[in-house]
Amino acid sequence: MNNKKAQESYTVLTEIVLPNDTNTLGNLMGGRLLHWMDIASAISATRHCHRVVVTASVNNVSFNQPIKLGSIVTLEAKVSRAFSSSMEVFIEVYIEDTYSGKKSKCNEAIYTFVAVDQLGHPINIPELVPETDEEKKRFEGAMRRRQLSLILAGKMKAQDATELKALFA
Ligand SMILES: CC(C)(COP(=O)(O)OP(=O)(O)OC[C@H]1O[C@@H](n2cnc3c(N)ncnc32)[C@H](O)[C@@H]1OP(=O)(O)O)[C@@H](O)C(=O)NCCC(=O)NCCS
Repeated sequence: MNNKKAQESYTVLTEIVLPNDTNTLGNLMGGRLLHWMDIASAISATRHCHRVVVTASVNNVSFNQPIKLGSIVTLEAKVSRAFSSSMEVFIEVYIEDTYSGKKSKCNEAIYTFVAVDQLGHPINIPELVPETDEEKKRFEGAMRRRQLSLILAGKMKAQDATELKALFA
């Protein structure tokens, strides 16, 4: 299986906040943003492995500022590391004010996807080769984040999380 570059999974999704996307304050609902992030990151994961992928976990979600009705929202997603069947995907969200055109980062999240076969069983995927400094940093931290996610999901014992424990040593 050929290794893949992180850049090959790069995905950009652009949306505009319409009335049906907002809460009673006229701001984008968190659930709608999570939906858009899920789509952008699923496309990114699919571009990495060219298989059907399912969302396994969502972590590190932050909503730093309200997103107003009419804002243009751009989501950028890229796979940061591939394991055996799972991939970590970073998503960054930017808003562009309709009237001023000013762009700012408002949100980020980390999703994990698993590539599955037609029966929904996990299957092996290509390795990811990081190139830029940022890609290398994210690749390096992905093992710790995976261990934390698995511990929180009750799928790993804390004593087995070698890389995560090393942070506190
Ligand atoms: C995700 C899913 C395929 C994992 O299947 P499973 O039988 O638990 O398989 P495994 O325990 O062997 O895990 C498979 C991979 O997922 C990873 N994984 C599972 N749960 C995880 C979690 N909470 N966080 C991070 N990674 C996770 C495992 O580490 C493993 O990765 P690896 O193969 O790269 O080492 C299965 O749980 C599933 O189908 N879940 C529902 C997915 C879905 O419907 N998503 C939409 C939500 S509505």
